[in-house]
Amino acid sequence: MRILSGIQPSGKLHIGNYFGMMRPALELAQRGEAFYFIADYHALTSISNPDELRQNALDVALDFLACGLDPKRTVFYRQSDVPQVTELTWILSCVTPLPMLENCVSYKDKIAQGLRPNHGLFAYPVLQAADILIVQSDCVPVGRDQKQHIEIARDIAGVFNRLYGDVFRIPEASIRAEVAVMPGVDGRKMSKSYGNTIEIFGDEKATRKKIMGIVTDSQPVEAPKHDLDKNIALQLYRFVATTEQARAMEARLAAGGYGYGELKKELSAAIMDYFAPFRAKRAELVKNLDYVQQVLRDGVARANAEADKTMHKVREAVGLR
Ligand code: TRP
Repeated sequence: MRILSGIQPSGKLHIGNYFGMMRPALELAQRGEAFYFIADYHALTSISNPDELRQNALDVALDFLACGLDPKRTVFYRQSDVPQVTELTWILSCVTPLPMLENCVSYKDKIAQGLRPNHGLFAYPVLQAADILIVQSDCVPVGRDQKQHIEIARDIAGVFNRLYGDVFRIPEASIRAEVAVMPGVDGRKMSKSYGNTIEIFGDEKATRKKIMGIVTDSQPVEAPKHDLDKNIALQLYRFVATTEQARAMEARLAAGGYGYGELKKELSAAIMDYFAPFRAKRAELVKNLDYVQQVLRDGVARANAEADKTMHKVREAVGLR
């Protein structure tokens, strides 16, 4: 089974990214041949500062390696080191019906959030389809928000194959149904664009402060707290605690005499504990950037070989060769 996923270098890694996409992807990588990459072409749709883009791309590499990506098992690379995807993007563009892109929720969302509606943003799903199809992936582990993009990739592959013969494998999204949507500190879905994230590798003091600011209702310490599904801090705690710890916490809340302040302190400690090994690993990697660059160089060779194989077939199929 071939597995592929990408992460946009467009901001700091937060716990929503980790539980939604990164951890499932890293687990899945054990069960097949995984290709994971830093989607820097995609990030150009929203970042116009070159230093920021370079720094973010390096950050993603450090984050992935710190969180446990094994470069011996997984092909890890920067998207822009496989420029063949841009050629494939053009070819796929020519078979992509416009309404497919016009109906794209993430495009509409980004515009609603105030991003400039440039052509790259609109064509974003075609580039993503090219990423997926160029290595003939079977399985694409992503967060829920990417579901439509994977459907578009499947549709484009289908249209292409019907026109030109069976060139592409049809990929399947892998979305963990059991992973709850992670709320941000304000209760909306945790997302960089809402500014409600809890960063994994951020400054410890600032992170604790952010956690203490999680929105709660105004019940006093003494009150038994039963409305657990509205309790954002508890929902976050469930991600980083064991089942027993979470049960014990629920019991303490229900008994009364246990306030939200204490809960948030507990949560803060649990988050710090959970990510402590990753933070230590990342601190090591930062001192060893040559190694990180070498990992990315090794990945490129493998990714290029796959991309060239596919592009050979594609050019032949459409009549460019
Ligand atoms: N659009 C994805 C995101 O923002 C990143 C991405 C780019 C991707 N290319 C991909 C994900 C290919 C999976 C497969 O999260």
